[in-house]
Amino acid sequence: MKALVTGASSGIGREIARVLAGQGVELILTARRADRLEALAKELSVPVRVLPADLSSKEGCLALYRSVQEEDVDILVNNAGFGLFGPFAESDLDRELEMIRTNIEAVQILSKLFLRDFRKKNRGYLLNVASSAGFFPGPLMATYYATKNYVLRLSEALSEELRREGSQVSVSVFCPGPVETEFNDVADVRFSLPGISAEYAARFAVRGMFRRKRVLVPGVSMKLARFGSRFVSEGMVLRMAYRMQSRKQEENRK
Ligand SMILES: NC(=O)c1ccc[n+]([C@@H]2O[C@H](COP(=O)([O-])OP(=O)(O)OC[C@H]3O[C@@H](n4cnc5c(N)ncnc54)[C@H](OP(=O)(O)O)[C@@H]3O)[C@@H](O)[C@H]2O)c1
Repeated sequence: MKALVTGASSGIGREIARVLAGQGVELILTARRADRLEALAKELSVPVRVLPADLSSKEGCLALYRSVQEEDVDILVNNAGFGLFGPFAESDLDRELEMIRTNIEAVQILSKLFLRDFRKKNRGYLLNVASSAGFFPGPLMATYYATKNYVLRLSEALSEELRREGSQVSVSVFCPGPVETEFNDVADVRFSLPGISAEYAARFAVRGMFRRKRVLVPGVSMKLARFGSRFVSEGMVLRMAYRMQSRKQEENRK
C-alpha cells in the first residue's frame, strides 16, 4: 500500500507517517519544510518519496497531484492545516485567507482528484484531519473553527455518497480535541485543556481509518462535549465556546 500524507513535517502528520510506515505502508510525504521531510524519510524503513509543496495555492495542490498521479496511491491523508487566534475584526485578513486555502481549498482539491482515482479502482482510503472544532462555532478563533466545520461536513457527505453507490472507497474524518504539536505556536494560543500526544492521536486515526469508521473522536471529554451539545441551545453552546476560547487568551497573557 502507498499513502500520501500532507503536513508530514510536524505534529499529527509526522506521527501518522510513522504509524503507517510501521505497518509497512510506502509513503509520499509533503509539507513546505523539505529538511524536516528528509529527516523523517531517513528514519523510516519503508520506501519514501519526499515532495515539498505549498498547499495554500491551487497550483501547489495541482502540481502535487500531477507528480504522484501515476503512483497508485491507496491512502490520502489531508492533514496540513493551521489555526489563528484573535477577535475576527482584529485578525489578519491575508493570514485568514491563507488558512481557508490550506484548511479548505487544498482538502477540496486533493479529495476530489484522489477520490476520482479511488472510485475507478474501487478501493482507497481518504482520511481528512478536521478537529473537534468542527463540531462547534468558535468565537475568537472563528475562521479556524469554520474551516474545520467545512472539512467535517464535506467528509461526512462524501462518505455517504460512496456508501450509497456501494463503493469500497472509505472516507474518515479525524476530530481530535487539543493535541500536543506545534499548532499552538503557529496559532499563537495556549490550550485551556491538556492535550493528547500526537503519537496517540495518529494511532487512533490510522486504526479508525482502516476500520472504515466515518467520524473519529479520540478521548471521552470530546465525545461527551459533542454529545452534550445536542441537548443545549445554540446560544448556550456559543456562550460556552466563547468562555473556553477566552481562557486561551488568558493563558496567552501569562
Ligand atoms: N494540535 C491540535 O490541537 C489539533 C487539534 C485538532 C486538529 N488539528 C489539525 O491537525 C492538523 C495538523 O496540525 P498539527 O497539530 O500537527 O500542527 P503542526 O505541528 O503545526 O503541523 C501542521 C502541518 O501542516 C503543514 N502546513 C501548514 N501550512 C501548510 C501549507 N501552506 N502547505 C503545506 N503544508 C502546510 C506544516 O508543514 P510546513 O510548515 O512544513 O509546511 C505541518 O507539517 C491541522 O489540520 C490541524 O488543524 C490539530
